[in-house]
Amino acid sequence: MAIFIACLVAYLLGSISFSFLIAKKIAGIDIRQHGSNNAGTTNTLRVLGKLPALLVLILDTLKGSVAVLIAMQLTDSLWVWMLAGFLAIIGHNWPVFFGFRGGKGVATTIGVVIALMFIPALYAGVIAIALIVIFRYVSLGSLAFVTLLPISLLLLQRPMEFVVGSLAILLLSYWRHRTNIVRLFKGQENKLGKKVAEHR
Ligand code: G3P
Repeated sequence: MAIFIACLVAYLLGSISFSFLIAKKIAGIDIRQHGSNNAGTTNTLRVLGKLPALLVLILDTLKGSVAVLIAMQLTDSLWVWMLAGFLAIIGHNWPVFFGFRGGKGVATTIGVVIALMFIPALYAGVIAIALIVIFRYVSLGSLAFVTLLPISLLLLQRPMEFVVGSLAILLLSYWRHRTNIVRLFKGQENKLGKKVAEHR
């Protein structure tokens, strides 16, 4: 029962699409009809600016951490902690409250891994941020982050449950970023701070 509750709560928490809610509230728009059409921090930055994006980043990150922290109260199983985190990301990507059209899960992933594997996440995060600053592609930084997580976990000899979970996150993230990957290879990806063509 505890496992079921942890998983359900995590998915429902993840399903709260803060970029959708904030864009609706402050601009009366569906964020999924603008910019890259993604319900996430980067697209909120693109469409609405820094402050709303910061708010989305904080709230989407927090929901990932809270989902894991709740699971930690309910069970001692590392598998369930990891599963709860993964389901929060699934909820963000396919939110039950918003027609199953959400984001790419990066901010929520950050929240999950901060709660579960802070130091490995820190190493991956520093490199990912450096890549974003140098190349100005958030998607590249996001992909680097999820790629470096399992490597960092292995190097730091963290529990196998987290390594397996981070590999699942990696696969999910690559799938959600598939259009970004194509644009990166074609040299057509949106750069930070540049006006963007609408992607359908
Ligand atoms: O967090 C999502 C980011 O990696 C890419 O977002 O809007 O450029 O597709 P976007």
